[in-house]
Amino acid sequence: MKKLMRSLAGETLPVPPIWMMRQAGRYLPEYKATRAEAGDFLSLCYNPDLATEVTLQPIRRFGFDAAILFADILLVPQALGADLWFVTGEGPRLSTITDAAGLAKLKGRDDIHDTLSPIYQTVRNLASALPSETALIGFAGAPWTVATYMIAGRGTPDQAPAHALKDENREVFEALLDLITDATIDYLDMQVQAGAETVKIFDSWAGSLKGDDFRKYAVEPTRKIIAELKRRHPTLPIIAFPREGGEGYVGFHAATGADCVAVDDSVDAAWVAENVQPAGCVQGNLKSSHMVTGGDALISEVRRIRDALSGGPHIFNLGHGITPDADPDNVSLMIETLRESVSA
Ligand code: CP3
Repeated sequence: MKKLMRSLAGETLPVPPIWMMRQAGRYLPEYKATRAEAGDFLSLCYNPDLATEVTLQPIRRFGFDAAILFADILLVPQALGADLWFVTGEGPRLSTITDAAGLAKLKGRDDIHDTLSPIYQTVRNLASALPSETALIGFAGAPWTVATYMIAGRGTPDQAPAHALKDENREVFEALLDLITDATIDYLDMQVQAGAETVKIFDSWAGSLKGDDFRKYAVEPTRKIIAELKRRHPTLPIIAFPREGGEGYVGFHAATGADCVAVDDSVDAAWVAENVQPAGCVQGNLKSSHMVTGGDALISEVRRIRDALSGGPHIFNLGHGITPDADPDNVSLMIETLRESVSA
């Protein structure tokens, strides 16, 4: 079995598999060249040949144990009828959903596949193009995180517009989350049918949900997506990433049914080993900034995280995406350190 799949199945490996969030991205000159050929980021996402190419680039260059489909979590809102565009140097912009009338204008779960069919083609391409030892990861955003963008129309530091809708018009807020949940189930199902071997649910803004809100809007939608995907695909392993979940990481495997819980870099690896890993595979934790700074600090952090998590199933990764200012040589150093360290 592929190394990533073995870790997801709960095996403890002497050298954990490794991949990296945003491994296809602007820190790679070959990515920038293909993106220029596509014209812009969204055209790249919807071009199966070029999206396949950029997904494969970090596999060729670094030999990661997994490839993640090249797409974006905001394609689901677009497929539901939201306007979406990217402002260079700033990030995504969307038309906003602020009331029942806005919600009513969105499409239903059955109408998303016309827009998303190029993504399924990319997955099919990758399933046949990847080396036999490389696992293929599909993904989608978690409903809360996707909703924060649909409500605010952009990324926000504190997700205030989404919290405001939740508190002022809970019915519309919950109906929007339900629609995203249903569409996400079907979208991920199609990725699995096209050849994704595991899927990851990105809840990048889970950390801004506190107390009962965390349970209702981070745990529950993820649990619902996982339960239905596993009903349709009983052997599918699933990775959940409730970023900045903090204490919420404890019990997240059991509460959602996730096979693997990805953690950011705000929690300590030893704490994760003690409090999260006993429930199943964990992934992540290395600060992305080490990909910019490199050196001895990178080497010692890779070893520290690997050693702290060596007693259970572990997938090595960053705590968040690699940034455009990263040096590809530091990525190579991370991989070498991880793979050599056992005999060192
Ligand atoms: O990890 C991968 O390599 C797979 C592809 C992937 C992208 N986005 C490509 C991308 C994945 C898994 C995502 C997820 C995503 N997208 C998230 C969740 C993970 C996270 O980072 O918290 C979120 C919140 C988004 C929404 C999004 N897309 C934002 C806020 C931005 C702008 C910020 C930025 O880095 O420019 C994007 C753009 C984006 N998505 C890029 C890439 C490679 C950069 C686009 C470019 O080439 O200019």
